[in-house]
Amino acid sequence: MANVTVIGAQWGDEGKGKLVDWLSNRADVVVRFQGGHNAGHTLVVGNQTYKLSLLPSGVVQGKLSVIGNGVVVDPWHLLEEIDKLRGQGVAITPDLLVLADNACLILPLHRDLDRAREAAATQKIGTTGRGIGPAYEDKVGRRAIRVADLADREALEAKIDRLLSHHGPLRRGLGLPEADPAAMLAELEAMAPKILPYAKPAWRLLDEQVKAGKRVLFEGAQGALLDVDHGTYPFVTSSNTVAGQAAAGSGLGPKGPGYVLGIVKAYTTRVGEGPFPTELTDEVGRHLGEVGREVGTVTGRSRRCGWFDAALVRQSVALNGIGGIALTKLDVLDGLPTLKICIGYKLGEEALDYLPAGLKAQGQLVPVYEEMEGWSETTQGARSWRDLPANAVKYVRRIEELIGAPVALLSTSPQRDDTILMRDPFQD
Ligand code: IMP
Repeated sequence: MANVTVIGAQWGDEGKGKLVDWLSNRADVVVRFQGGHNAGHTLVVGNQTYKLSLLPSGVVQGKLSVIGNGVVVDPWHLLEEIDKLRGQGVAITPDLLVLADNACLILPLHRDLDRAREAAATQKIGTTGRGIGPAYEDKVGRRAIRVADLADREALEAKIDRLLSHHGPLRRGLGLPEADPAAMLAELEAMAPKILPYAKPAWRLLDEQVKAGKRVLFEGAQGALLDVDHGTYPFVTSSNTVAGQAAAGSGLGPKGPGYVLGIVKAYTTRVGEGPFPTELTDEVGRHLGEVGREVGTVTGRSRRCGWFDAALVRQSVALNGIGGIALTKLDVLDGLPTLKICIGYKLGEEALDYLPAGLKAQGQLVPVYEEMEGWSETTQGARSWRDLPANAVKYVRRIEELIGAPVALLSTSPQRDDTILMRDPFQD
């Protein structure tokens, strides 16, 4: 099977960036297919750290990188990120980076709306404040400005009018200043010549690449439990984050995604608000946060931490068609005397082996735990299965059994080469 899709199988921040960077070596093209610059992908290569939010992680390895139509793109942020990476010595040219000409734009008014709503809300979502939700609303509301519109002044003017007739009342209601259509047009026209060189029909390029036998790596952002349909709604992001979206969000068709590799952290974290059955607010939770350096790449917020939730990941395996997982951050569990794995939930007297859809039910779940003995040795930097303590191996094997998917890769530090390969996703 030629293509691989990498997705987060929990609430995001599973360490996708490192794995995508590692797999990029074996791929010809790397594609983002949903989300926007709400994502934060950290790649550590030698003594260089690259922090990406919008660019596909493949750019660091000089791979053809595509921002697909399913992504919402803040063009000013994109230009800044390109500059920042260039400053770190990464070459980014229109030959290497392709932006789908039918992707929708995130504009400053989306960011304003996102932040003003969060500030005013009694029930906050805890968004990244980057305008993601409002941009997707305009996309499905059929009033978004798309990349291709930047080349057409007339279309742009008409679209700005239409957009502002929607946003005007919203802004007024939230006490935001009136948006000025002439200033908006001027800003867009000033930016357009810098963005348009990257704009292409990405679906066509991908079709050609696949026909030429090239390998495509799809890079998911966020995680399956933040999916707008399947996640802990409404405490989710505004895109479909599941693997199936790789097809629609790139234009490559249903066979495009290929083998699905789920990235799974050896415990659970979440940023922002919403249900989290195995959350630990005690000393162990703080320990996981400190040792795992669980601070958001984009927002700098501390992540909430908890025990591994096998019921949740089992659900994710089904939702995404996961063929195998990459287990990350096992070393964060080093030294804990006892480990707990959630194998299901109690909802009142009822036993459940999945996360129910209702928000109230999700908030009332009591996890059912299985306990395992921990290990005192370090697993950090292990490069072979034989380097792992027996109890760590038992923990990994038990996770495989409970979630119904094999471990294809084990990541033992943020460094690119600290990775144990059990089976090559590109060959599966
Ligand atoms: P939004 O995507 O900015 O609208 O935020 C909606 C929810 O998704 C919030 O709970 C965010 O914390 C969460 N979220 C968005 N992007 C990421 C990510 O890359 N990692 C983890 N959580 C994220």
